Amino acid sequence: MDHIRLRECISAEVPPKMLAHIDRVVTLAAAFGEKYDLNISEIKLAAQGHDLFRALPEKELLHKAQNMDLDIDPVELNSPVLLHGPLAAIELKERFGIKDSQVLETIKWHTTGHPEFSLESWAMFIADKVEPNKIAKNSNLQIIFDIASESLEKAALAYIDFRINEALQLGFQIHPMSISTRNKLLSKFNAISNE
Ligand SMILES: [Fe+2]
Ligand SMILES: [Fe+2]
Repeated sequence: MDHIRLRECISAEVPPKMLAHIDRVVTLAAAFGEKYDLNISEIKLAAQGHDLFRALPEKELLHKAQNMDLDIDPVELNSPVLLHGPLAAIELKERFGIKDSQVLETIKWHTTGHPEFSLESWAMFIADKVEPNKIAKNSNLQIIFDIASESLEKAALAYIDFRINEALQLGFQIHPMSISTRNKLLSKFNAISNE
């Protein structure tokens, strides 16, 4: 299964606006992949599948997760939109036969990030957050895009910090995986600066 075939499979069930977002993410993620000499087909497939369920109502996401016996974090229970990645990863494996575990993990954790993310995963993650329409809607994201031209992992840390700051200001919950991911990225950069 390559991303073109997957696009054909999902285009009937993903709304056009979401499909347009996915197309922009595929393009930008592939550009990051080229720049950093990464596995482009893996990046494109993850980008193509990541928002399969993003347009579903939260009630339906929760229902699906409960039916599948998914481990639901209390933060996800409070904000079921967070389940769209984990549920898409399961669906893409079971219904579309995607077996690449790196691709599935990237899709599963594309909202929060994950401490074990590869650079391919980060290419997809960052592209999702800073594709042109996202920056047009929120110019504060331009800095994340700019940092990505220097380092995908630094851009990831900056993005997670940005969202955590926002959550603190608004009194929102923070997903524990965002915290674990931030800690891992920070310790990586601290280790580098201590060398
Ligand atoms: Fe998403
Ligand atoms: Fe997305």
